[in-house]
Amino acid sequence: MSPTDRPEGTDSTAPGGAPAAEALLRVRGLQKSFGPNQVLQSIDLTVARGQVLALIGPSGSGKTTILRCLNGLELADGGTIDLAGELSVDFATAPTRNHLSALRDRSAMVFQHYNLFPHKTVLENVVEGPVIVQRRPKAEVEAEALALLERVGLTAKKDSYPFELSGGQQQRVGIVRALALRPQLLLFDEPTSSLDPELVGDVLRLIKELAVEGWSMVIVTHELEFAREVATEIAFVDGGRIVEHGDPKQVLRDPKQERTRQFLHRLLFPF
Ligand SMILES: Nc1ncnc2c1ncn2[C@@H]1O[C@H](COP(=O)(O)OP(=O)(O)O)[C@@H](O)[C@H]1O
Ligand SMILES: [Mg+2]
Repeated sequence: MSPTDRPEGTDSTAPGGAPAAEALLRVRGLQKSFGPNQVLQSIDLTVARGQVLALIGPSGSGKTTILRCLNGLELADGGTIDLAGELSVDFATAPTRNHLSALRDRSAMVFQHYNLFPHKTVLENVVEGPVIVQRRPKAEVEAEALALLERVGLTAKKDSYPFELSGGQQQRVGIVRALALRPQLLLFDEPTSSLDPELVGDVLRLIKELAVEGWSMVIVTHELEFAREVATEIAFVDGGRIVEHGDPKQVLRDPKQERTRQFLHRLLFPF
């Protein structure tokens, strides 16, 4: 399935096409505290349709919290999230559960540790959300799920349980599960950082294919080469702020901020 198969995704623009000027996601002044710990100071970001935003930054800087707020898994304390010109949430004015479930319905998360249901088969994992949460017809969802599993080479594993799969296979199921929700926005939280090195390539290739097909994405990653090649924009997060953002090639080659420079240096020369 490509985003153009979705009823609301008809105007996405693949890389190389005409510039997609329309913002799919617009975040302004997003704030989040856990107790006394203000984790997100004031996050602004924009993702146009069909664009890929890579978030990089040190551990604890707030990257996962940003994704969880976008996905409605966390309730931000302030700021706004606008999605697809049709959903606008202002966190300063007591958003309802409906707002959070609307965010969750329009975005789908791929987790660092896969987060598959351990007691469900691969196919059950994929159909659960669309059938139970989105209340779509089971036969239609299963057919779509099987096509997606075939696409990622996991047809033979459809009746297996997560523990019977390699990490790379589990993460491809995680991606299929996200796609089956027909989201407008895909959110990836360090999708390859739990994988053995030889399994990273398959997952990155799949994500790159999705980017080329025009899916809109936010990806937290430490894979700088991947970010350089696949992202349309990169943002460096530190201390709950976006310290610097811009063209991936420019930011990675010649960062303007000293903090970005230090972070990249540590990533490239860890010892
Ligand atoms: N549910 C939570 N309760 C309390 N503190 C949290 C929670 N989630 C994240 N934090 C804290 O928020 C900060 C940012 O975490 P996180 O967004 O996971 O950072 P990153 O993904 O960049 O490593 C950390 O200090 C972390 O301990
Ligand atoms: Mg994280």
